[in-house]
Amino acid sequence: MGKALDDVRILDFTHVQSGPTCTQLLAWFGADVIKVERAGAGDITREQLRDIPDADSLYFTMLNHNKRSVTIDTKNPEGKLVLEALIQKCDVLVENFAPGALDRMGFTWERIQELNPKMIVASVKGFGPGPYEDCKVYENVAQCVGGAASTTGFDDGPPVVTGAQIGDSGTGLHLALGIVTALYQRTMTGRGQKVLAAMQDGVLNLCRVKLRDQQRLERTGVMKEYPQYPNGTFGEAVPRAGNASGGGQPGWILKCKGWEHDPNAYIYFITQAPVWVKICNVIGKEEWATAPEYATPTARLPRLKEIFAEIERWTMTKTKFEAMEILNKYDIPCGPILSMKEIAEDDSLRKTGTIVEVDHPVRGKYLTVGNPIKLSDSPTDVTRSPLLGEHTDEVMAELGYSREQIEALRTAGAI
Ligand code: COA
Repeated sequence: MGKALDDVRILDFTHVQSGPTCTQLLAWFGADVIKVERAGAGDITREQLRDIPDADSLYFTMLNHNKRSVTIDTKNPEGKLVLEALIQKCDVLVENFAPGALDRMGFTWERIQELNPKMIVASVKGFGPGPYEDCKVYENVAQCVGGAASTTGFDDGPPVVTGAQIGDSGTGLHLALGIVTALYQRTMTGRGQKVLAAMQDGVLNLCRVKLRDQQRLERTGVMKEYPQYPNGTFGEAVPRAGNASGGGQPGWILKCKGWEHDPNAYIYFITQAPVWVKICNVIGKEEWATAPEYATPTARLPRLKEIFAEIERWTMTKTKFEAMEILNKYDIPCGPILSMKEIAEDDSLRKTGTIVEVDHPVRGKYLTVGNPIKLSDSPTDVTRSPLLGEHTDEVMAELGYSREQIEALRTAGAI
């Protein structure tokens, strides 16, 4: 079966996490992704957080599947010519260098357009245009400036960053959507365009509900589904809401059997209004189904703490999986807190290709997260990440370079 992006060639100038997440997705959809790296060094993550000496790290391998790697010194005049040839052959250039790095290399938007007017140039940057546009940015900085950190954690503690890489991988996802959209528009205009995904914008997009709450707070001074209600206080800005649901159906994380020794023996429990009566029956509080102080969502809001404490008395008598099984029978929305160990061992995730075992010539077998987006006509086959420069000769030959020319460029340090 063919792949959705079979004829698309990507010049992948990305490194670390945000850009590579994007180009890996495009590769999974079938694009030919040619990753350009510096000879002898490569993407810095190849050697970061290594668990096996001299093997590409999991950080690198898990973000660079299905790509080809070529080494080019883009600051060497002859290396620049190779890059120019690649720009002429590719559809999209993706980069996430520090602001201005591509220009300093001599590859301005204008120069790229001269070389290939159909080229789409897609960038991740920390910030969009404005006072911080020149700043370098990593994941947690993006979480802080995008509104995630100030709204994550508990009211009586400091701001907290989340383990989900919403700044890096989240922005990579945004960029991938921008690229396929620009490719689609190009089919009508015949022109390339610039695509920018700023990490601050990407995080803020994912924190959209918190900007909603900011405006609700300013209008009403109180948000009744927040744990600060009814006894705490609200200030000027959206407070940290602990484990409150963020939506219209109150939820909280509750202890399950074994919580004393297992840090993940917890379940997320949502008191969805349509199943309130079933919740009352399951936890043995049948009288709450009709009592006026509990029977309606509005009546329950000031009592959420007490309600969740009562539900927890029930969940603590079950393991998180037992609780999940019982609650699902009644359509009560809930979710066990799964550890990474449990996820890694989950058979169903392996069956769907969400968790994939990959073999690598240096590091051997390892687990990775496969393509989370499943297309029925474009299945994903996850193949290992490339070794540094593994495809340099192959790609150079495709560009029309002879064996002798390739060797000469290598001797000159251009590739
Ligand atoms: N040949 C020659 N030079 C190369 C090269 C190649 N193949 N590939 C990269 N370089 C050069 C760049 O031209 C740049 O040189 P310059 O500073 O002289 O212009 C240099 O390598 C380093 O690039 P830079 O992006 O500044 O790397 P860094 O390690 O200092 O910073 C980041 C890393 C992530 C902070 C920065 O790239 C950044 O802010 N990126 C945008 C936001 C982002 O994606 N952040 C998330 C990362 S997960």
